[in-house]
Amino acid sequence: MRKVLVIHGPNLNLLGEREPGIYGSTTLEEINKSLQEQASKSDVELKVFQSNHEGELVEAIQNARHWADVIIINPAAYTHTSVAIRDALSAISIPAIEVHLSNIHARENFRQASYISPVAVGQVSGFGKNSYLLALQAAVLLPLKK
Ligand code: DQA
Repeated sequence: MRKVLVIHGPNLNLLGEREPGIYGSTTLEEINKSLQEQASKSDVELKVFQSNHEGELVEAIQNARHWADVIIINPAAYTHTSVAIRDALSAISIPAIEVHLSNIHARENFRQASYISPVAVGQVSGFGKNSYLLALQAAVLLPLKK
């Protein structure tokens, strides 16, 4: 059974009420429920973590090395600022898939650069809640080294 850790970064706990014109009206709880449903159909064991704190996200990535086969991460605003999260992903040998609800390439200039993309296996951006579901599908299809 493939083990997938989903990590949600800062402010994603406010999904549903946060800028619904950009991020949609689906709550994080609803996204996690859909992910769990898709996971159980795909023989995936799924764990989910959300934090508004950079260091906690770094620790979640470090701890994943003992458990996860694949990481799905929406680093949210830290996408555009965090060398620490990028280094944590580089430090472990688990493939990571970067997710964004919005199409970051079609938004403000500062959002178009990602510190995470160069160390991710790929990015899904712009499909709202379905970005996560597509990433989970990619996580299932991803060839693993071990
Ligand atoms: C986001 C895009 C980021 O630029 C932003 O800071 C977020 C959410 C997205 O999912 O579209 O918080 O990662």
